[in-house]
Amino acid sequence: MGQTAYQTIDVHPLSGLLGAEIKGVNLADLDDEQFTEIRQVFLEHSVIFFRDQDLTPEHHIAFANRWGEINVNRFFKPVEGYPMIAEVSKEPDQEKNIGSNWHTDHSYDQIPALGSILYAHEVPEVGGDTMFASMYAAYDTLSDGLKETLSGLNAIHSSRHTFGRKPTNQRNQDIGGRIRNRELATQDAVHPVVIRHPDTGRKALYINSAFTVQFEGWTKEESQPLLQYLYRHAVNPTFTCRFHWEKGSVGFWDNRATWHCALNDYPGQRRFMHRITVEGVSLS
Ligand code: SIN
Repeated sequence: MGQTAYQTIDVHPLSGLLGAEIKGVNLADLDDEQFTEIRQVFLEHSVIFFRDQDLTPEHHIAFANRWGEINVNRFFKPVEGYPMIAEVSKEPDQEKNIGSNWHTDHSYDQIPALGSILYAHEVPEVGGDTMFASMYAAYDTLSDGLKETLSGLNAIHSSRHTFGRKPTNQRNQDIGGRIRNRELATQDAVHPVVIRHPDTGRKALYINSAFTVQFEGWTKEESQPLLQYLYRHAVNPTFTCRFHWEKGSVGFWDNRATWHCALNDYPGQRRFMHRITVEGVSLS
């Protein structure tokens, strides 16, 4: 990845493949030149981070609106008075966190989201980091033979098994208050297994273990071995970066180019974030 020179912001890559921290920016008071450069960093590094931000919900919404329309989340509890902002939380007495499996958000929608902007209000003393993986790298490092096999394939994605199912065991009960409207989990979508990113034109692997059910035209049983191989391949540590949140940190990931995974390694502590998801475009 070549280093682009930026005039209005300081850019510090987290790894050679994805992730960059951007310094010298107040997201509550952004000018157009800064925004243009931030967009460039987002497209180059796939996930961007800012620290020490002091954002009201209005600032958060205004920043999201610069990227596109806001997706009002069906399943997450909204911040009171702000339906466009979802709460991503874990209380000290709760066991499960949200997003602990590697995934990309909203792949079950016909037009999947562009990305999500997460703002940290309260973070654990230790732990609670989020990991990200580059789906460009996951695709680029496949053999020519497997690239050829995947090139003609579509996959079916669904929200039903993740958001529709009532938690049945004790361990999963506590997610209940944070995920709502389970009856609205009726979304299924078919997307190419390899997409061409709508903005960068790069090829990326577009499946994920949370929402992809099977390859189109294959049975679930036939699909699983290849899907499982790809899921393992895609999280090769070389393709990942990890972000440590502080109060006031903001992260914005590109759902078309990355997976993410929220680590659940802070028992007995609170983590409380606000998330806004920005709508995307068709990937077919
Ligand atoms: C999510 O999957 O949206 C949650 C990410 C996080 O809490 O770090």
